[in-house]
Amino acid sequence: MTIYRGTFLDTPDDPFAGGSLRSESDGALAVDQAGTIVRRGSYPSVRSAYPDDEVVDLTGGLVLPGFVDTHVHFPQVRVIGALGMPLLDWLDQCALPEEAKLADTGYAEGVARDFVSGLTSAGTTTALVFGSHFAGAVDALFTEADRVGLRCTSGLVVSDRILREDLFTSPERAHDEGLALANRWHNVRHNRYAVIPRFSLSCTPELLASCASLQEQFPDLWFTSHINENVVEIDTVKKLFDDAEHYLHTYSEAGLVGRRSIFAHNVHPTHDELVDLAAADASVAHCPTSNSALGSGLFPLRTHVEHGVRVALGSDVGAGTGFSLFKEGLQAYFMQQLLGDEGLSLTAAHLLHLATAAGADALGLADTVGQFSEGHEFDALWLRPAEGTTLDVALRHAHSTEDALAKAFALGTPADVAQTWVAGAQIG
Ligand code: GUN
Ligand code: ZN
Repeated sequence: MTIYRGTFLDTPDDPFAGGSLRSESDGALAVDQAGTIVRRGSYPSVRSAYPDDEVVDLTGGLVLPGFVDTHVHFPQVRVIGALGMPLLDWLDQCALPEEAKLADTGYAEGVARDFVSGLTSAGTTTALVFGSHFAGAVDALFTEADRVGLRCTSGLVVSDRILREDLFTSPERAHDEGLALANRWHNVRHNRYAVIPRFSLSCTPELLASCASLQEQFPDLWFTSHINENVVEIDTVKKLFDDAEHYLHTYSEAGLVGRRSIFAHNVHPTHDELVDLAAADASVAHCPTSNSALGSGLFPLRTHVEHGVRVALGSDVGAGTGFSLFKEGLQAYFMQQLLGDEGLSLTAAHLLHLATAAGADALGLADTVGQFSEGHEFDALWLRPAEGTTLDVALRHAHSTEDALAKAFALGTPADVAQTWVAGAQIG
């Protein structure tokens, strides 16, 4: 048994449904060899139950559930920070030229190291990752995630039109390469496979059908794609799929919308799409810094919540401006404030929930990670700023744990994340 001692914050009761922040100051978690939390409580009570076991001292700072990033692009880590372009220009000029370089598996291996260390050093322990268009690069990503111990759900990204031609595949090749990768990685340790058409704009109905046939062969694969991000994109999709009632319909028509589907962005949904997403029990990845950087728009969080659509956070690196879900949470808060009466004013507990338990729920891992309850695995980050930094000053002068958490979102960066664990194993 290992006893972790510190101030633990989490949101087992959803703040969007009336729950509030749970905090345990000078608390402790007893974690067994398998990484499962077997006891939580005050430090004295846990210590007296396990008087002889090792104590890891995480006092000072805050211990939070490991972050869950529900939308992030592996091949884009080296192009973070481009300014001034809307989505389709940014793809052409910035993202896709870099993505083409991953045809070289040696290059992809270096990118995989940069990418996985970017996630873990930001405190992210679970991620739904847009992989590469190249099977060798996707294999390199899983290999690196597996070596480090990140919980990684990812897969081959597929497209067969309106993109750089060197990124094209065919429905047959997409199916065969996806099948081989799923056989190699799905449900192997912390890895899971996802079927990933890039977006309907770059996929023919035949390619979407081949994605569905792979999911039929492997019924518990995950699914992710983009939706309703940018108004020009949406108009183009309407023209390409003239029979479709709306953007979501291009996926649902192929049988790709269900409990295991996570759609990134959804900045401009129609009422019917929100109804259909909720009915299908699908999830949306909200990507605030990306939506700001590309000028995609202000995410209608209130209408998602009112319709009962599950929402979690995504960094959307490389359109997003970094791996930190502190930054995404803060930007989500800003954007809801800017929406005025249409916005949903968010508390620090909402932000933590979006960055942790909501992501775990979207990814079907709510019983495993995202909170510090007994029976959950110890996936955590220790926010421990260097002495004298503004965050250190702010935390020491916080008047409550909720206030401390708000300060963490306002000021926290990867530099303040001292350690990260997955199932009790340190990964960063
Ligand atoms: N839509 C299709 N591809 C992408 C991408 O790489 N990033 C974002 N933000 N949107 C997309
Ligand atoms: Zn994306």
